[in-house]
Amino acid sequence: MELNRTELRSVLSIIVVLLLMSSHAVAYDPLDPTGNITIKWDIMSWTADGYVAMVVPSTTFLTPDKRRKTQALMTWNVTCTYSQFLASKHPTCCVSFSSFYNDTIIPCPSCACGCENKNCVKSDSKILSSPGINTPKKDNTPLLQCTHHMCPVRVHWHVKLNYKEYWRAKIAITNFNYRMNYTQWTLVVQHPNLDNVTEVFSFEYKPLVAYGSINDTGMFYGMKYYNDLLMEAGAYGNVQSEVLLRKNADAFTFKQGWAFPRKVYFNGDECMLPPPDVYPYLPNSSPLSDRVVLHNRAAPLLALLLLLMAAPW
Ligand SMILES: *[C@@H]1O[C@H](CO)[C@@H](O)[C@H](O)[C@H]1NC(C)=O
Ligand SMILES: *[C@@H]1O[C@H](CO)[C@@H](O)[C@H](O)[C@H]1NC(C)=O
Ligand SMILES: *[C@@H]1O[C@H](CO)[C@@H](O)[C@H](O)[C@H]1NC(C)=O
Ligand SMILES: *[C@@H]1O[C@H](CO)[C@@H](O)[C@H](O)[C@H]1NC(C)=O
Ligand SMILES: *[C@@H]1O[C@H](CO)[C@@H](O)[C@H](O)[C@H]1NC(C)=O
Ligand SMILES: *[C@@H]1O[C@H](CO)[C@@H](O)[C@H](O)[C@H]1NC(C)=O
Repeated sequence: MELNRTELRSVLSIIVVLLLMSSHAVAYDPLDPTGNITIKWDIMSWTADGYVAMVVPSTTFLTPDKRRKTQALMTWNVTCTYSQFLASKHPTCCVSFSSFYNDTIIPCPSCACGCENKNCVKSDSKILSSPGINTPKKDNTPLLQCTHHMCPVRVHWHVKLNYKEYWRAKIAITNFNYRMNYTQWTLVVQHPNLDNVTEVFSFEYKPLVAYGSINDTGMFYGMKYYNDLLMEAGAYGNVQSEVLLRKNADAFTFKQGWAFPRKVYFNGDECMLPPPDVYPYLPNSSPLSDRVVLHNRAAPLLALLLLLMAAPW
């Protein structure tokens, strides 16, 4: 299995979770309190509850006569789920909406990524021209551009055009962190019409069909040497694409926010969406009183992981 850096990061974050979860179990070996303990694991399978891993900790210790090394082995099966909450307290991205049929732009929710204890820099601040300001910090603390959402990343979904048999959406990802270039970013989107993507412009696209019955979720990522680098905040800190979708005859509608994504993940972390009752709506159509309940039947993140582990690229 070969992974590039972003993919590796996603996988590593899972492994960190795994380690966190199993660390209590392996911290102490009564036979040899000072010995070394190694944990190994193999991910066996995915289920709706998470993935199943086989954990094999081994303890090496010297026998009482100090002549030989022995090894104690035990294995057990664990089921783990990825907890975004463990990884960070707040979301790290948010989503905004607009449409050709309504002038209102629905912004990211305020403080979507948490406002407390956060510093930010205004986009016209002189500080930004001082040398070294963009240098990443060791602990990756961001230097955020001031926004009402305080997110390092915003994904904007614009319902752009309506054809007879197709419709077109525009996706723009904006970076608000002056200290981060996202190389090989990924965007996972869940929308019921993604089962009929006809063409994707300027981004690469892969449907996430690897996970059981999912056909409404897909992954967008940048084209190599063109836009797989999402530059630090500023004039070049954005990437854009358009998607052409073939209308799904029985379900397609501009009503009730149907044309907007149900879930969005940037680099594996779920982004905060605007609340459903503010979605742009068609003139003369009521707001989302009887909005379809978002299906949550499968975690796209798991699908993403599965894809990352299994895909031959
Ligand atoms: C524990 O690890 C250290 C460093 O890797 C090594 O020098 C030492 O011999 C190990 N101890 C045992 C009991 O294997
Ligand atoms: C762990 O799961 C694997 C595959 O499902 C199974 O073959 C194995 O017996 C299980 N081991 C334990 C210790 O439960
Ligand atoms: C991002 O990449 C550009 C071009 O390679 C570089 O000039 C800039 O310093 C980088 N910024 C950060 C925050 O690493
Ligand atoms: C996608 O999945 C849904 C429900 O699982 C199914 O009804 C639909 O026919 C599928 N669409 C395609 C194009 O396979
Ligand atoms: C997807 O598009 C194909 C033609 O490209 C069409 O035959 C099929 O019915 C469409 N699927 C759905 C679920 O609308
Ligand atoms: C556009 O949508 C907003 C809700 O997001 C609504 O308040 C407004 O009335 C709509 N505009 C029109 C022209 O229907």
